[in-house]
Amino acid sequence: MKETLSSTLENKNSKLDILKVRADFPLIAKNKVIYLDNAATTQKPKTVIQALTNFYENSNANIHRGVYRLSEEATEAYESIRKKVARFVGAQNGASSIVFTRNATEAVNLVAYAWGEKFINAGDEIILTEMEHHSNIVPWQLLTQRKKAKVKYVPYDPGTGKPQWEALSSLMTERTKLVAFTHVSNSLGTINPVQEVIRSIRKLGSPKILIDGAQGVPHLPAHVDDWGCDFLVFSAHKMLGPTGIGVLWAKKEILEAMEPFLGGGDMIKEVSLETARWNDVPWKFEAGTPNVADVIAFGPAIDYLEKIGLAAIGRHEQELTRYALGRLEQTPGITLYGTKTAEERCGVVSFNIQGVHPHDSGTLLARENIAVRVGHHCNMPLMKKLGIMGTTRASFYLYNTLEEVDALIRAIPKIQKIFS
Ligand code: ALA
Repeated sequence: MKETLSSTLENKNSKLDILKVRADFPLIAKNKVIYLDNAATTQKPKTVIQALTNFYENSNANIHRGVYRLSEEATEAYESIRKKVARFVGAQNGASSIVFTRNATEAVNLVAYAWGEKFINAGDEIILTEMEHHSNIVPWQLLTQRKKAKVKYVPYDPGTGKPQWEALSSLMTERTKLVAFTHVSNSLGTINPVQEVIRSIRKLGSPKILIDGAQGVPHLPAHVDDWGCDFLVFSAHKMLGPTGIGVLWAKKEILEAMEPFLGGGDMIKEVSLETARWNDVPWKFEAGTPNVADVIAFGPAIDYLEKIGLAAIGRHEQELTRYALGRLEQTPGITLYGTKTAEERCGVVSFNIQGVHPHDSGTLLARENIAVRVGHHCNMPLMKKLGIMGTTRASFYLYNTLEEVDALIRAIPKIQKIFS
């Protein structure tokens, strides 16, 4: 069962040079921790860390405001990342549809305020799934409470580990103004067939469609133009980039029709004592000094993912997931959650050790130097549906190895022994 790093490479046809990849990540290279919490945040390659240091050492200036060279260069560097991000998610109309926010949560809230306040009315409906992260539930609850509108849910089926998409046909009505769903479940790893679901929604009506790409964009190719969605949100820190940067992509005409989210500097064209005129998109939605350094350091994160290739990363994650699922299935006293096969998941295994609270599992795994997330994973409604308080979640990325999965599996009997 136990394999060496080199056999992992040679025998599994993986295109990833795992030792080289690990060497690119200072924290991973130190081998101080078995880091299996990549759905929470990923580690950063040297190039991202260096870009941050380099910006503050050599290029720091505010953007869009200075007429001196340093400011112009910082502006250019910042705006170039917008183009890179647009390309990465398949947005041909490019940079003007990319809004930088603090995180994916803020991007959802931006849409809930700037689009929702204008276009949602009393009696309207918003459809979500029961597997959404709280950040794709609570902003819509707040909006529908303000507007006397309604949130409806596509049920989650614990048997298949997937949403019951066929319920859309009975849930959608002429009052449905938005369908928002995640590409990949953060707690279970379930991959939702975005393109197929969007096609079904379009056959049933013409609501706006928002994709939560927080767990999808880092692992699977996104194609907003081909998908035909209206909004996509995601976070840099889950795809090797810095914390503090989220992205909202939206169709340009929708961004133009939306009201501003926050008011202040840079989001205006003209201000008088009585009123103001808004800047063009996307700057209309970026009030105040943005997180310039972290946006610039997001660039090398995308470069890194593109250099390795999402296809190779995906194959590697599948291999780890398949192996982890197989070993967990063979381990007595384990309950597994989510889809049956690794192919339908994106680098996540969620399980419980029977008779052990997930928080205890997490604490004891931490003693073995294994970092996983335990608890409800900001998915309380999903956990309620599963009839549990939470799970133990191991989530993989390009630098993880089969040996790290082995270490996780080896730790389980030790935990079971303590609770026997
Ligand atoms: N949403 C992140 C997670 O799933 C923090 O862990």
